[in-house]
Amino acid sequence: MEQQYKMIATTLFGLEPLLKDELEKINAKKIQIGNRCVYFTGNNELMYRANIQLRTALKILKEISIFKSKNEHELYKNINRIKWDKIMTTSQTFSVTSTVNSKYFSHSNYVSLVTKDAIVDQFRKKYNKRPSVDLKNPDFNIHIHISNNNCNISLNSSGKSLHKRGYRTNRFTAPMNEVLAAGMVLLSGWNKQQNLINPMCGSGTLIIEAGLIAKNRAPNIFRNNFSFQNWNDYDNILFNNLKIDIRNREVEFQNNIVGFDISASAIAMARQSVESIKLNDIIKIQGKNFFKSNGEENSIILINPPYGKRIALKQDYYKQLGDTLKQNYINTDAWIISSELEQLKKIGLKPSKKIKLFNGALECKLVKYELYKGSKKFNKFQSE
Ligand SMILES: C[S@@+](CC[C@H](N)C(=O)[O-])C[C@H]1O[C@@H](n2cnc3c(N)ncnc32)[C@H](O)[C@@H]1O
Repeated sequence: MEQQYKMIATTLFGLEPLLKDELEKINAKKIQIGNRCVYFTGNNELMYRANIQLRTALKILKEISIFKSKNEHELYKNINRIKWDKIMTTSQTFSVTSTVNSKYFSHSNYVSLVTKDAIVDQFRKKYNKRPSVDLKNPDFNIHIHISNNNCNISLNSSGKSLHKRGYRTNRFTAPMNEVLAAGMVLLSGWNKQQNLINPMCGSGTLIIEAGLIAKNRAPNIFRNNFSFQNWNDYDNILFNNLKIDIRNREVEFQNNIVGFDISASAIAMARQSVESIKLNDIIKIQGKNFFKSNGEENSIILINPPYGKRIALKQDYYKQLGDTLKQNYINTDAWIISSELEQLKKIGLKPSKKIKLFNGALECKLVKYELYKGSKKFNKFQSE
């Protein structure tokens, strides 16, 4: 049987259970939820698959060594025990990143430096030459995680974070992280039998992630710069066959995904991104003011409105948002994500669900409002 090894998929706070479900679907084994990560085991094929297919993962790390160290000397020795020339050559480049939560080590940069020194000293001693460090675009990214005296060394198989799907063609003021957007669509429980409407779509992250889900298209199917492609065991035939298999599992989508925004530049950016990921057949983008828009029956509404912290807002903005939902979006489910926790209260509807998430460093709430005529909650707010 092909070699199985331990891996860690990192993610954003609150998305761990979704990531666990995704890992189960691709047949990962020994799955266990951690803090902003999920542990699992698998072989090379599963590692390639995880990088291409997982919607809620940021990075896939392959564990190469675990040991205990209480100070820099022990750390240096233990790093030096790993046979680095089995992993990379002197003509390749590398970087070291660290996360540290320990009473023995206080600075992650220092941990990275000691690790880097141990690696280059080993090469120098044996070959009189050393691989260079490249912080921007290294062939290998070595990750060290220290929790008290437990040290875990892994190779980052993804390279750049997996939220960088490659479809974002321009810079936008307040884009949502792609992994968070995919998480929001999955958390909404959208069953693809309804239309999905995304007012205030901005650069289109939510509609694109919804479109990928609708077609069962893998989020990183067009990406061709995973770090594992630089590894000496990289199997190009396996990678290409896997991509063919994954594309063959795409499906037709019969309903509509509609995004609209008031800003012409946002619409232009969203259209460009939708085209670059080849989803223009199922996603429609319109120029429209949400406050003058109407919903459709049998649809789900996802909104990522402006946050005052990033974009200046009028005082009654969230109240107006709630009024529009109450008056024009009857008989739909609406999900709103915002870091404006006080402003959200001004919406004037009772949420049926609240989920804590983070958009970058901003703590957010993802809130669900059920706008069904006849339901007690809705009638109460209509008469207020
Ligand atoms: C936080 S951004 C959305 C970001 C988006 N999720 C993305 O990933 O790019 C909010 C968007 O709401 C739009 N917006 C603000 N007020 C609006 C209104 N009344 N009607 C439609 N769009 C509006 C802004 O132009 C902006 O693009």
